[in-house]
Amino acid sequence: MDLDDTAARLGVPVEDIDRVHRLAGDRPSAPLPAKADAPAILERLAVRPDDAAEIMAGWPDPGSPLWTIELRWLLDRSIALVRADLGGHGWLPPGPELPRERGPAWRHLYVYAYLALVDVVRSYHRDHGIADDVSWATLADLGRNLAVDRRMNREGWPVMQSWLTLHARGGLYELGRLQHQRGGTAIDLHISESGPLTPEAITASLDQARAFFPRHFPDERYTAFSCGSWLLDPQLLEYLPGDSNILRFQRRFELEPYQEPDGLDADVEVLRFVFRTLSTPLDQLPRHTVLQRAIVDHLAAGRHWQIRRGRFPV
Ligand SMILES: CC(C)(COP(=O)(O)OP(=O)(O)OC[C@H]1O[C@@H](n2cnc3c(N)ncnc32)[C@H](O)[C@@H]1OP(=O)(O)O)[C@@H](O)C(=O)NCCC(=O)NCCS
Repeated sequence: MDLDDTAARLGVPVEDIDRVHRLAGDRPSAPLPAKADAPAILERLAVRPDDAAEIMAGWPDPGSPLWTIELRWLLDRSIALVRADLGGHGWLPPGPELPRERGPAWRHLYVYAYLALVDVVRSYHRDHGIADDVSWATLADLGRNLAVDRRMNREGWPVMQSWLTLHARGGLYELGRLQHQRGGTAIDLHISESGPLTPEAITASLDQARAFFPRHFPDERYTAFSCGSWLLDPQLLEYLPGDSNILRFQRRFELEPYQEPDGLDADVEVLRFVFRTLSTPLDQLPRHTVLQRAIVDHLAAGRHWQIRRGRFPV
């Protein structure tokens, strides 16, 4: 295979193709579910009808003209790359960022990869004795992400395509209100956009995790819960009422000293999570809530937001 040629045809840097080639090697891929079963699976994965329709329209049928040899290669090797790290819990891009405007095969290539991995990771879940409801609730983050990406005019996907490999490798579990990521000595907490972050819901989710991890991953020892988020920025104290859910969430954590960001720009992340846009000028952003006004006024004053890390004992 000519890596340069493949990269050129896919419109991506050759280094990205070389990485896929190296990491996937000739490791086993996994088949997609039968097309006839796909609508029901997409529904279980909470994929909304408009996204499901696009995914079905771009389905990689044998002989489909939408699927060039390069796209088929990337799909197959991306599945192999993620599958090779089954059980892993680090950040793992499944392949290059694609020019998604070229059509449904390009737009949803990593969704098809995810669908192929559903069976693989479901079997990993079963091996760890994880109940069906946790398994499906976890995997259904796909639908939520596709819906957010649509709201974001497709600006969200480059991060989501890597984020969703955590779910597909058994590295992350949705237990009630929070998503819990395995790794090291701390369970890393993630907060999806799924309603208010009430203290009761958080406490219930933490309690679930305290029982879940020792039972299903008895070889792993967790001494703390951790989180890295814009939600932990203490500057929010200047703006939000003390009884807001965000500040009550913050108070659970002991913050680590501030570190310069390693790639993520907190100002961008705040726009992502609060406004679901990365490109709207500040003066055109909505000002409906106290948080929205705070985010905009802070940036307009030339100040910056911070992604902070914190932890508290299990
Ligand atoms: C985290 C989240 C659930 C908190 O929502 P919440 O429980 O309503 O939070 P609070 O009670 O602290 O809200 C305080 C104020 O901020 C507003 N607010 C909170 N989150 C908001 C958001 N994402 N967008 C706009 N306004 C928001 C609330 O409406 C409220 O303002 P109001 O009194 O004027 O109505 C919410 O921000 C969210 O869904 N975020 C997206 C996911 C995310 O950021 N995850 C972390 C990734 S690192």
